Parts: sequence; structure tokens; C-alpha cells
Amino acid sequence: MCGIVAYKGKKDCYPILLSGLKKLEYRGYDSAGVASIINNKINITKRAGKVKELENAINSKKSSQNCGGLGIAHTRWATHGEPNQKNAHPHLDQSKKISLVHNGIIENYDPIKKFLKSKKITFKSDTDTEVLVQLIGYFYNKGKLDFEQSVRAALQRVDGAYGIVVLNVDFPEMMIAARRGSPLVLGIKEGEFFIGSDISPIVSYTQQIIYLNDSEMAVINKNNYQIKSVEKDVALPKKVEKIDYKIDDFDKGKFKHFMHKEIHEQVTTIGNTLKARSTKNSVLLHGLSEYWEEIQSADKIYITACGTSWHAGLIGKNLIERFAKVPVHVEYASEFRYNHSIIDNKTVVIAISQSGETADTLAAIAKANDYGAITIGICNVPGSSVSRETKCGVHTRCGHEIGVASTKAFTAQITVLYFFALKLADSKKTMTKSVMKKYLDLSMWPKYMDDIKSVLKKEKSIKKIAEKYQNASDFLYLGRGLNFPVALEGALKLKEISYIHAEGYPAAEMKHGPIALVDKNMPNVFIVPKDKTYDKIISNIEEIKSRKGKIIIVTDSRDKILRDLADDLILVPKTTHYMFVILATIVLQLFSYFIAVAKGCDVDQPRNLAKSVTVE
Ligand code: M6R
Repeated sequence: MCGIVAYKGKKDCYPILLSGLKKLEYRGYDSAGVASIINNKINITKRAGKVKELENAINSKKSSQNCGGLGIAHTRWATHGEPNQKNAHPHLDQSKKISLVHNGIIENYDPIKKFLKSKKITFKSDTDTEVLVQLIGYFYNKGKLDFEQSVRAALQRVDGAYGIVVLNVDFPEMMIAARRGSPLVLGIKEGEFFIGSDISPIVSYTQQIIYLNDSEMAVINKNNYQIKSVEKDVALPKKVEKIDYKIDDFDKGKFKHFMHKEIHEQVTTIGNTLKARSTKNSVLLHGLSEYWEEIQSADKIYITACGTSWHAGLIGKNLIERFAKVPVHVEYASEFRYNHSIIDNKTVVIAISQSGETADTLAAIAKANDYGAITIGICNVPGSSVSRETKCGVHTRCGHEIGVASTKAFTAQITVLYFFALKLADSKKTMTKSVMKKYLDLSMWPKYMDDIKSVLKKEKSIKKIAEKYQNASDFLYLGRGLNFPVALEGALKLKEISYIHAEGYPAAEMKHGPIALVDKNMPNVFIVPKDKTYDKIISNIEEIKSRKGKIIIVTDSRDKILRDLADDLILVPKTTHYMFVILATIVLQLFSYFIAVAKGCDVDQPRNLAKSVTVE
């Protein structure tokens, strides 16, 4: 899972490629590289580390080079082979004529590699990708197939997923892109062509886009392009789409990290969603209108997603079952694909994704579509694969999320799911008009915003508590009902950015095993709204307290009981169930943020992670 950008045109390709790579860094940032054709030779620069390292390397060489108008570039998240310079893309074939960047995984790389080695081809890297470029080179250098035929011949022999762009020194006006399972987009402008693994590196140059489908290749030669099949040399009629999407410049404003900025943006992002999606007696989800008849008469709902988006799905389940009385199953997208869920045309499958490019989620959508389900995307990136591959959907519209740890996208997803549950309840008449009116009391929205602001104002005291626990090696996060997913999310945030081991559990489940971990060094974060689970959670806190565990409580209750039990207590304003989830989440986001900062971690780009996981 990685990012690809490629350019063919009259301009110097390097600035276009480098700025594209920066936009794609969310897909991986362990190494990066570019290749262009200079003086009849493939010229490659690669570096381990972030795109900045590559940029420095290019800038230090550049004065002596005419970089030309044809180039391919890649930012990597390692799958096969360590994240070092040798394994960074682009890769070369043995003859050094052909160079390639690749997203995806070549699953049968091993037998192909053995075959190529038997033909005296030697390998320079540990990657599956090099096998593909060597195979293309093998066909091409035998002399019987031209460049395009060689690419086609190699692709027909590989299993797995690929999005590739290939250059060949013998064809200095040509670039070939192809995909199966790994998205690729072609951007077209007068005399210029752009390829990206999504539209982010392209939209600032052109809005004329062709989305390649699986088993399609784009053959760009001089000023022309053709979309063809990977299977046969036939041209495919393809529509150029005009997209209406802008990507704002990335700017941290007064914040040191994007994550911190994005946590603070939640006042606006949640406020905007609340205002945009509601009137005083109805919920506005226009993206679902075409399918609403089918949605409201569906007999069950699956929610599928990964990571933080999956946690939002658990909250969605609670809200939908509570309000609309429809059974909801929540499944990890990676499991959904292979399990035996009962899906048909009376099933709604909601896929949640911030990026819209998560490979597991896309595979789950493909399965749901195959079974005839009504697929709904809840996604933050218009034009992304999730938006395009679901039948209908809702955009969370919380703006670009850059910090790898998802924050504002999570609360936007919850807000959209809250409205979805209300709309469904309204259609199914499982909620009385008067209760519905209470939930859609627009005069509450400003109070909700004020509540978020008041939590953000507590960040100094949250920071102090975070610093106190920065050296702990394990945490438990415990909550019940709607707040169990909040506990999971709190634990995930901490793990991702501070590398501290943390587990989320339903508070009562903790005594069925995890309690064995508790000792005087172990912090336990309890999420305790004053609701019907309150008394039971107090007992759970007592159970940990009697084993000398440290108790951190996030609550909206001013009870003395909690104050006495807590080593540290963070009080949020008294509010509704839905809003408590949001406020507690924001507290936990700040808590993990300040621990990570105290530990000197790379908050926005934590080790081993990527913003969007584009391999299965
Ligand atoms: O873009 P998506 O919402 O589909 O991404 C899903 C997960 O990869 C993502 O939520 C991941 O868990 C984040 N790093 C969480 O902070």
C-alpha cells in the first residue's frame, strides 16, 4: 500500500511528482523514489524515510540535470522487504531499460522469481514488485513482443493486486499504467497526462479524470492516450469525468501537529454536520434518497470498516438498533470478505471509511455488491473508491484529515450515523414525533458546540494528567454500552501514536481475564456517564481499585463517589448520550496526543503506520 504519481507533459516532471508524493504520503512514508528518462537512460533517485529526504536528494543533484517531462514516483509502506533504499520504488529490470512503480502485492512472486532466476536474471531487492518489472523486461528483451505487449504478457501471469506505471527508455514518449485491485486514476489536460493512485496529486492540475477499472490499462503515447484491456489488445470506450473537488493546502496553523489541529477542528466539523444534516423536523441525507425505499425496508444491516471507522460502526449499531429497531451486525472489513454473512438484496451494507481507499473495505463492498446488497458509503473523500463503488452514500465532509491517527473523521462518522439512525427511525415509525423532535432540537446545537469548546479548554489539565502516566507500559480502557467503542478508540489512539500497549474492554468484561494484568503501575481509564450503567461501573472501578490499579475517570457526573475512587478525574459537561460519546472521545484524543508529545513520538506520522491501508 503506497502512493503512485506519474506525469507526462512538457513541464519539468520533478516538482509535479514531489508535490504529488507529499499529498500521497498518507498512504505510506517509509521510503520514496522517482524515475525519469534523461539522455536515453532511466534516472532513478530513491531514499529511505519520508518524501522530504527524497526532495533533498533531488535538489542537491538537480542543477546538473534536465529532468524532462516524463516521470514516475512512489511513496512506500513496506510489505515485502524492509523499508530501505534498496527496496524503495521505482524498480528496474535487469537491462535497466524498464522501470516500474507498483501498489498492491504480487502473490505468486516466488515461483516467478525462481523462473526468472533460472533465466540468469539477478535481483537487487527483496520486493515482490521487482519480480514484476523483471518479468516485463524478460518478455521485452526476448525481442518478440513490443513494450505494451510485454506489459500485458507479464500482467497476465501475475496473481494478486496491482496498480502500476511503467516506463521504457526505448519509448521515451510513452507511459503505461494498469490496475487490478489497486486504484489508479488518469488525469487529462491539453498535452499533459497525470496518473495517481487517487485524485489527490492530480486535482490541482486538472479535473478531467478517467477512473481505471480492474484489468484496464492506460497507454499514453506522445499526445494521445488509449484505455485498453489487460486481457486483449482492444481499446475500451471510456468516459472522461469532470470532478468538482478541491484539496486545501496542508497548513498546521498555530498548532505544532496536524493531529492537535484536527482535534480542535471538531467544534467546527461537528457543528457543520449537525447544521447541514438537520432541519427542525427532518434529517437531510440527500445522498441516500435514490435508495431510501430499499434502505427503509431492508431486514438487516451490516456495517463494515477497519480500525477507527470500525469503532464508529459499533456506535452506529447501538444507535440504529436503539432508534430504528433494525438488527445490525458490525464486521471488520477484512473478515467480512471471507465470512458467511447472509447478504441479499434486502440487506443494507454500510461501509465506513475516512480515506475511501482502504483495500479491505473496498473488498467488502465488492462482495456486498456481488450479493445484491444496498451498499452505502460513509466516507470523507468525495471521488474516492468507496464513494464510487457503493450504490449511495453520505460524505462526512470534515475536511482533509492528515494526522495518521483519525480524530475529526471519527466524530463526523458518529454524527452521520446518529442522523442515519434517526432518519431510519422516522421512516420506520419506531420513534414518536415528540421524541424525534427532542433529538432534532436545533436550539441544542450551539450548546453542543459550547460543550466541545469547554472540553478543549481543559487541555492543560488533560496534558498534566497525560504527562503523569507517560511512562506506563500498559493501559486498560473501560466503558459500557455506547462507551465501549469509545474505550476501544481511546486505546487505539494511545497505541498508534505513543506505542504504549493499551486494550479497550467492556468495563464488566475486564474481570473475565484482563484484571490479571492489574497492579499498582497499571493505569485504567474508565468512561463513566451518569446513565443506567453507572452503578455497575462503580463496582468495576472498585474491583480494579482493590487490586491497586491507578484509576483515571472521564465522566459527566459530579458525584463524590467518583472523586474518591479516582486518581485523576476529567469532568465533561452534562449532556446527551450522543454528545457524551463525542466529549469523552475528545478527552481521550487529547490524552493520547499529550502522552505521545511527552514521549517525543512522531505524532502525525507514527512508525509502521500509514493513513490509508491500501493492501489487504
Ligand atoms: O480510511 P479508513 O477510515 O478506511 O481507515 C481505516 C483504518 O485504517 C484507520 O481508521 C486506522 O485505524 C487509523 N490509523 C485510526 O487512527
